[in-house]
Amino acid sequence: MGRTTPTTRGTAVADTNPEREQAVETALAKLDLDAKTRLLAGQDMWSLPALPEIGLASLVMSDGPIGVRGVRWTADDPSVALPSPTALAAAWDPALARRAGRLLAQEARRKGVHVLLAPTVNLHRTPLGGRHFEAYSEDPFLTGAVGTGYVQGVQDGGVGTTVKHFVGNDAETDRFTVDNRIAPRPLRELYLAPFEAIVRNAHPWGIMTAYNQVNGTTMSEHRYLVNEVLRGEWGFDGYNVSDWMAARSTKGGIEGGLDVAMPGPRTVYGEALAAAVRAGEVDETAVDAAVRNVLRLAARVGALEGAPPAVTDLPAGIDGDALAREIARRGFVLVRNEAGALPLGRGTVALSGAAARDARVLGGGSAQVFPDHTVSPLDGLTAALPEGSLSYTVGADPSEELAPADQGFTLRAVCRDAAGDVLGEGSLPNGQVQWIGDDLPAGVTHETLASVEVIGTFTPRESGEHAFGTRGLGAYALRVGGRLLFDGVQAMGAESDPFEAFFGSPVERGRVALTAGETVEISLLHTLDKEFAAPLPAVMFSFVHLGPRRDPDELIAEAVEAARAADTAVVVVATTERVESEGFDRKDLALPGRQDDLVRAVAAANPNTVVVVNAGSPVELPWREDVAAILLSWFPGQEGGAALADVLTGAEEPGGRLPTTWPVALADVPVTEVTPTDGALDYAEGVHIGYRAWDRAGAVPAYSFGHGLGYTTWAYESLVVTPENATVRLTNSGERAGREVVQIYLAPVADAVERPARWLAGFASVEAGAGETVEVTVELPRRAFEIWDEGSDDWTFVSGGYEVLAAHSLADARLTARLDV
Ligand code: BGC
Repeated sequence: MGRTTPTTRGTAVADTNPEREQAVETALAKLDLDAKTRLLAGQDMWSLPALPEIGLASLVMSDGPIGVRGVRWTADDPSVALPSPTALAAAWDPALARRAGRLLAQEARRKGVHVLLAPTVNLHRTPLGGRHFEAYSEDPFLTGAVGTGYVQGVQDGGVGTTVKHFVGNDAETDRFTVDNRIAPRPLRELYLAPFEAIVRNAHPWGIMTAYNQVNGTTMSEHRYLVNEVLRGEWGFDGYNVSDWMAARSTKGGIEGGLDVAMPGPRTVYGEALAAAVRAGEVDETAVDAAVRNVLRLAARVGALEGAPPAVTDLPAGIDGDALAREIARRGFVLVRNEAGALPLGRGTVALSGAAARDARVLGGGSAQVFPDHTVSPLDGLTAALPEGSLSYTVGADPSEELAPADQGFTLRAVCRDAAGDVLGEGSLPNGQVQWIGDDLPAGVTHETLASVEVIGTFTPRESGEHAFGTRGLGAYALRVGGRLLFDGVQAMGAESDPFEAFFGSPVERGRVALTAGETVEISLLHTLDKEFAAPLPAVMFSFVHLGPRRDPDELIAEAVEAARAADTAVVVVATTERVESEGFDRKDLALPGRQDDLVRAVAAANPNTVVVVNAGSPVELPWREDVAAILLSWFPGQEGGAALADVLTGAEEPGGRLPTTWPVALADVPVTEVTPTDGALDYAEGVHIGYRAWDRAGAVPAYSFGHGLGYTTWAYESLVVTPENATVRLTNSGERAGREVVQIYLAPVADAVERPARWLAGFASVEAGAGETVEVTVELPRRAFEIWDEGSDDWTFVSGGYEVLAAHSLADARLTARLDV
C-alpha cells in the first residue's frame, strides 16, 4: 500500500483577489463590536442587516435548489421550477448542471437574491429519506460532480451558494437533534466526499451547516469538521450559515466556525454575541474571522461598495422554459421498453392517472417554489398528438388529503385590525397564506393585524361532495355558499415542531354538495392567536379543499375501458406531498391509493401499456414485468409534460441513467434505518450504502445504479486504461442519433483492505449519429484508488490490481481491462 503526500492542515485560505481582500479588511476595521455581531445574525427570515457606514448592502438569501423562491413564500412571486435534483443527477452531466446554475443565478438577480441556499448534497443513504428527491445520488462521486457543475453555474452569474447540509443530514426523523454516528472512514469516503469535491473544484462562497449532530457534536458547533477539515484541509474561504434555527449556542457556534445564525431577529448571535465578548467568554478575533467571511461573500456578490465583485461579465440570458424542458427529458430514465413500445407509434392513446392532469412537478418543504405555469402530461400530450387521438380518465386519485385550494378558486386575503377595520388586502393565487417577517400586504403590520379573511369564489370542475378545511394553528370560521361549516380553534398538537404550520396536516371541517360549473362564494376567517410565541413573526395557514371522491373501482373501470379501446395506454402514477417532503421520512415505498391496481387493470386490458412514474425517489413497482414500458419522470419541473410528450413521441430520446438503485421492494433494501435509538442513529453499514450495499448483500434490485435506456443502441469496442485514465471507443449501432453515458467502475481484484466490490470512478457522455464511432477519455482520479485510513487519519493509496469496467450501467459492463497501480 502506497501513501499520498500528507495534506496540509492550516487556517483558511484567503480569497485570491488581493484588492477584494484589502477592501474586506478596510471595512472590517471600521466596524465596532455591536455592528460586527449584528451582521452575523439574520435581521429577518432571509437577510442580514445593511451597514451603510461601510457601504454594505443587506445580503439576501433564498431557497433553492430547483428555483429561487425569493423572500416571499407565495405563488404571488413566481419562479422558474426546474426538475428535482434527482432528475438533474440522472442526466449525469455536470455541464447541464452548470447551465441550470446559470439560470438560477439569473432568477436570483431578478429577485434581488445574493445567495442561493443550495445545492443539497447529502446522500441517498436510504430511499426512505424524506428529502431524497432534493439530493442527487447514493454515490458520492456523482453527487460531487453534479454539485460542482451547479455551484460553478450559480457563481458564474455572480450569485453565491450554500452547499448543504454539512454534514450527515441524510434523513429527516428528529433532524434537529439526532446524533449521527459515522465512523471516520465512511464520513470521509461517502458523506464528506461531495462537499470536498465541490469545495476543491468549484470554490463555493458558502456552506450551510446541518441541524443534526455528528459523533456527539451538533453541526452548527462542529469545530473539527468546520474549522479543521472544511477550512483547514480543504481551504474553504466562504461563509458558514446555520440551517434555519440550527444555531443554539453563542460560544459553541462562534468557536465552532459558524459565521451567521439564521433566521433572525431572535438568534444566539447579535446582542448575545457582543455580550459574550464583553464578558470575556468569547474572543473577539473569532467574531472578526466570521465577519471577514461575511464581508468576503458580500464583496464577491457585489454588495460591498469599493470591492471588486467576483463576476463582472454576466453569462448570456437563458430561456427558463426551454432549459426546464431540456433538463426534464435529459433526466427521464427509461427503465423498461419491451418490443420497442416507445417511442409511440401512430394511433390512439388512452391517458390515465390523477397526476397526468394535476402534475406533481416538485417536492415539498423548503425546496418549494411557485412556477407561473406548469405543463401537465395531459397538456403536453394534447399539444403534441393529433387532435382526437388522446383520451383522458382519472383512473386512480391518490390524494386523499385536502390541499391548498387551487383549481377553480379565485381568492384574495382581507386583513383587519382588532376593531374589524380593513388594513389592507393581499392577492392570493391559491389557498395558502404564508407571510413571513415583513412580507405583508401593503398597509398591514404584525402589530396591527388581528384577522385575515380568505375570501372569493369557487367554480368546481366536478359535481359531488366537496370537502373544505383548514391547515395551521389558530381560530377559524369557514363558510361555503353562505353555510357556516366550522367555527373553532386549532391548537398546537402533541408533536410540536416549530415548522408545524408548514408541514402540519390539513383538517377537514365539512362537506358541501356542489355542481360542476356553478360558482359559490367562499370565506375563511382566521383570527390570529396573539399569545402564541411563534419563532418568527409570520402568518401561515391554508384554506384547503378536496374534490369529490368517486368510487375507486368505478374510476379504474373507466380507465380500463378507455385503455381497451386505444392503441396505447399511458398511466401516470405518482407520490403525494404526504409521502415525499421535507420534515419527515417515508414509512414505505408503496405508491399511495389504488394506483397499483390501476396499472394492473390497464395492463391486463392493453398489452401496450406505458407507465410514467412521477416520483422524486424510488417507489415499488410490483407490476413492472407486466407492462410494456416504464419511464421514471421524477418531479419534472414546470415543463415536465412538454418534455414527456417530446420523449413519448420520440421527438427526443430519454437521457437519464439511475443516480440511485431502484429496489423491487423495501424489504430488499440493505440500509433502511432512519429512526434514532436514544437520540443516536448508527451508520452501522460503514462504507456500504447504495449499490455498494446491494453488491455486498449479493441482492438484485429492480433496476441497477446507472441503468437507463435510450432510443438507440451502443456497441462498446475498445477500452484502453492507464493509471490516469480510461479511453473507450464505441459505436452508435442503432438507427438514430443518441447520447450515451459511458460509466467507468473500478473493481479491486484481490483486496487486503475491506472495500466495496466496485465503485464509480468516472463517467462521460458521448453523442453520435447512427453508425458513427466516437472515442472518449475518462479521467481516473487518484482519489478513486484511495481509502481513508483510520489509523493514520489520512488518505491512503491502495496499490494492487484493479479491473476497470467500461459500462452502460453497473449491471451491464461492456468491456473490462486490467490495471495494476
Ligand atoms: C432547510 C434548509 C432550508 C432552510 C430555509 C430548513 O428547514 O433544512 O434546507 O434552506 O430551511 O428555508
